[in-house]
Amino acid sequence: MAELRVPDVRLRRSYLAAVAELAAEGCGAPGDRSGTARQIRTWSGIWESEEGFTTFVEELRAESDSRRARAHGLVTSTTWWWVEGEEYLGRIALRHYLNDELLEVAGHIGYEVRPSARRRGNATAMLAALLPLARLVGIDAVLITCDVTNVASRKVIEANGGTLEDERHGKLRFWIPRAPVPGASTGVCYDLPAASCLFQRAPALERRPPSPLIERPGGP
Ligand SMILES: CC(C)(COP(=O)(O)OP(=O)(O)OC[C@H]1O[C@@H](n2cnc3c(N)ncnc32)[C@H](O)[C@@H]1OP(=O)(O)O)[C@@H](O)C(=O)NCCC(=O)NCCS
Repeated sequence: MAELRVPDVRLRRSYLAAVAELAAEGCGAPGDRSGTARQIRTWSGIWESEEGFTTFVEELRAESDSRRARAHGLVTSTTWWWVEGEEYLGRIALRHYLNDELLEVAGHIGYEVRPSARRRGNATAMLAALLPLARLVGIDAVLITCDVTNVASRKVIEANGGTLEDERHGKLRFWIPRAPVPGASTGVCYDLPAASCLFQRAPALERRPPSPLIERPGGP
């Protein structure tokens, strides 16, 4: 059974195989602003070696630390990998809060499943596993967006309770109301200690009070 795991150097072979699949379908091309595209542009030629991959994983984990300086427009975020056994299947990233641009277009969450693992329910299950973790950083209602043409992603979001608010700049904007508290008797099945350990590594975790707009669809 697949589960959320923190990025792990032991998955190098599988991760790089997934990157090759994604690159073969055009990920990383100029103009591609996805998280993996940025990684490909930054880490190709480096992460093939064990040392390089270790540095990449350390950098990825460090993004969860709110004390870290970051480029303009980027916010603290945490990435988990969706893994079955020793096979990397996909990734999902949670932005800890929204700035104006994220509120307008990109939302709290980005995800992707490697091509060879698609259409098996992985994205739907991965998002379901992540949602309770959003509460750990003080997010009540989750904003999640997809391209108007992205039928698969729309289905993933709706299967997880997303309600369409509107369309802006070619993106559909959905809100998923307050997720259950991790560890409560929710019936949600995932490995909380493993999945939340990145948060524990970031003592200065940024907790922003939700704005009225963010709170609206899933307020208490
Ligand atoms: C979108 C994406 C994450 C879906 O991953 P996945 O693991 O295949 O999704 P699931 O298996 O959970 O499928 C969810 C639904 O979408 C449908 N679906 C999946 N791929 C599809 C496709 N190419 N065309 C139409 N429907 C599709 C599935 O049949 C399923 O429908 P159902 O609930 O009616 O059975 C994956 O295609 C991907 O990584 N795409 C590139 C990156 C991306 O678009 N990320 C999302 C950004 S918002």
